[in-house]
Amino acid sequence: GGPRPLAGRKAIVTSGPTHEPIDPVRYIANRSSGKQGHAIAAALARLGADVTLVSGPVTIPDPAGVKVIRVERAEEMRDAVLSALPADVAVMVAAVADWRVASAAGYKIKKKPGEAPPPLQLAENPDILKTVGHHADRPTLVVGFAAETENVADNGRSKLERKGADYILANDVSPATGIMGGDRNRVKLISAAGNDDWPDMDKDAVAEKLAALIAAELERKERG
Ligand code: C5P
Repeated sequence: GGPRPLAGRKAIVTSGPTHEPIDPVRYIANRSSGKQGHAIAAALARLGADVTLVSGPVTIPDPAGVKVIRVERAEEMRDAVLSALPADVAVMVAAVADWRVASAAGYKIKKKPGEAPPPLQLAENPDILKTVGHHADRPTLVVGFAAETENVADNGRSKLERKGADYILANDVSPATGIMGGDRNRVKLISAAGNDDWPDMDKDAVAEKLAALIAAELERKERG
């Protein structure tokens, strides 16, 4: 292997979707594959970091050299992330469901002839990135993603501030881009320093570029 500039550093990465149960057999989910988050966990590990990957339900293999904690719901993901603190860097890539079903049924909801469909009451999920970005044990670097279909840069920058992140990688997930679930990504890196448009790359290359940036930035911060 090559240089390991992240040796001795701890990283937490979230990846994949969350599944929010409606009842024991049904859930609300989204189209996240976990490809980008898993690639970032692997890239940080290749640079020598001690990586904890908190992953929602995905079908892709565990990345090499990474500790994987599997969760289903957003609240479980939040708990696993907070248990993994402290860390030098947190990269929140998971497509966490914004809402969960307020009170999931403990039994399979039955369809009864002639009855109206059951109403689904939703409750807001914890915002894991925002929690970590404002935590007393905040990692030195906090990185988030912003999947948008419009006003990508503006929405990304407001997320940077609201969530207390150092970097937001904003991407356009309109269906025509093929990004969500696909192998390629095109991101805009948003930070206090400005916006940087990265070219269309495969998700492994985005991961490598981000891991290298994280290594350089931790090094720079350490020197003061
Ligand atoms: O607000 P929005 O979901 O667009 O923000 C996206 C960023 O916030 C991603 O980095 C995502 O992993 C993180 N996030 C989170 N917990 C949530 C919602 C989003 O960590 N409940």
